[in-house]
Amino acid sequence: MKLIVTTKEDAAKQAAELYRALLRQKQNAVLGFATGSTPLALYTELIRAYQKGEISFQHAVSFNLDEYAGLDENHPQSYRAFMNKNLFSRIDIPMEHTHVPNGKDTSAEQMDAYEAMIRAAGGIDLQLLGIGQNGHIGFNEPGTPFDSTTHVVRLSQSTRNANARFFSSIDEVPKEAVSMGIKTVMNARAILLFAQGASKAKVVAAAVNGPVAEKVPASILQLHPDVTLYLDPEAAKYL
Ligand code: GLP
Repeated sequence: MKLIVTTKEDAAKQAAELYRALLRQKQNAVLGFATGSTPLALYTELIRAYQKGEISFQHAVSFNLDEYAGLDENHPQSYRAFMNKNLFSRIDIPMEHTHVPNGKDTSAEQMDAYEAMIRAAGGIDLQLLGIGQNGHIGFNEPGTPFDSTTHVVRLSQSTRNANARFFSSIDEVPKEAVSMGIKTVMNARAILLFAQGASKAKVVAAAVNGPVAEKVPASILQLHPDVTLYLDPEAAKYL
């Protein structure tokens, strides 16, 4: 694992550079995107680079990690709406090249179809990750099997509480989600994980230095050959 401890702003700039290099070398790169507050600074940098003519997503394809079950894509808190608003509508990626799991169809066929689409696109070149306070990546909660592929997950109470700030009340936070599995994430050729703030410090230390165990989903990343962690000093304080 490559660890880079720097400010949130500098991390976003450095990572945007990686996207620029990747898309120069491979215009039709397959990008795995994430939601949450952590990736926003990077998305702002990508939009800025696009506006300056330094980067183009015209031939890129994207797959998002996860989506709340039961939310229509037009629901303001759906991850599809988040991605459209914070990135897709502000860069030149064709909407039909963007994929977010369908929260309205949680059938087994739909889970397999998402995996099949990723495979058909040639696999993910660069997967972006945040980390939940309990170590989840995507919505793969502690205990998720390491060999999981896209699946329906039951959200833990701590995750629902953490995400309640985006909804008008905790009752409105969906109880389930659709998420790429751990194996789907591990199949990506390269992975970038961002973590910021003291609330992530303990879990970052467990993921980086602890045993590789399903109770800390992000610990599996220790076994991936190309992972870069961008941490701010607060998130890195127990390393
Ligand atoms: C959600 C997302 C995760 C994300 C996590 C952390 O639960 N499903 O993909 O990493 O939140 O969010 P934040 O970046 O806001 O701390």
